[in-house]
Amino acid sequence: MGGSRRAGGASRGGIVTPDDPTWSRVDRYLESELVQPDDALHDNLVASAAAGLPSIQVSAPQGKFLELLARAIGARRILEIGTLGGYSATWLARGLPPDGWLLSLELVSRYAEVARGNLARAGVTDRVEIRVGPALASLAEISKRGEGPFDLVFIDADKPNNPGYVRWAVQLTRPGSWLVIDNVVRGGRVADPTDPDPNVRGTREAVAWIAAETRLEATALQTVGGKGYDGFLLARVRTPA
Ligand code: SAH
Ligand code: DHB
Ligand code: MG
Repeated sequence: MGGSRRAGGASRGGIVTPDDPTWSRVDRYLESELVQPDDALHDNLVASAAAGLPSIQVSAPQGKFLELLARAIGARRILEIGTLGGYSATWLARGLPPDGWLLSLELVSRYAEVARGNLARAGVTDRVEIRVGPALASLAEISKRGEGPFDLVFIDADKPNNPGYVRWAVQLTRPGSWLVIDNVVRGGRVADPTDPDPNVRGTREAVAWIAAETRLEATALQTVGGKGYDGFLLARVRTPA
């Protein structure tokens, strides 16, 4: 979720990405009317901004979507790749039962510290663990320790590593588990096979791998909102026929 910071009308390969102020206005309306993030979530954004973290977390409506998804599938164990200030982690943790577990992976220890403070203020530290380091190394360690399977994996870190992350996600889940990948549209750039941006290439390679992986069935939805024009991919690990 998050999204393209590109100014209106920029185009590559004939793809036009206008940034319509209506998207933010409607997000503000939906957020105030329907989603109603509480003080802890509001304070998370304030503390993260004050600490100088980039403002690239999911929007409140997207966060609520993650919470609802976790609850819909009855998730008890969630793996998140890309913690930042723990904003999406807070939403996901709220979708867990009291004895559930969210393991969130973050490269930057300073971000993880900010996230730990935010998660404590949100009252979800009993359910959330943050591990610092390059996620590919953390994922190998999780596998070695046999800490899977996870019911839901939310992939939202460095996009060039998305092919590696989806491979690990399949390793660390079970039939019937779910995967969500953020930022798969990137202002429309994902549809351009000639785009040299490593973020776009990483996402396209992950999408192609998922398409060829018979253990997965998937779709992706384009989104607009306060974070611009982007989208997310939803995949399910198939159960035996
Ligand atoms: N999921 C968060 C936003 C994550 S932003 C939310 O919506 O609230 C992406 C995060 O991935 C950043 O915090 C960045 O530091 C982290 N990241 C980048 N490369 C990484 C890597 N190799 N391993 C783990 N985390 C990484
Ligand atoms: C951006 C947005 C995201 O949601 C993310 O995970 C990474 C980057 C961005 O807007 O640049
Ligand atoms: Mg994102």
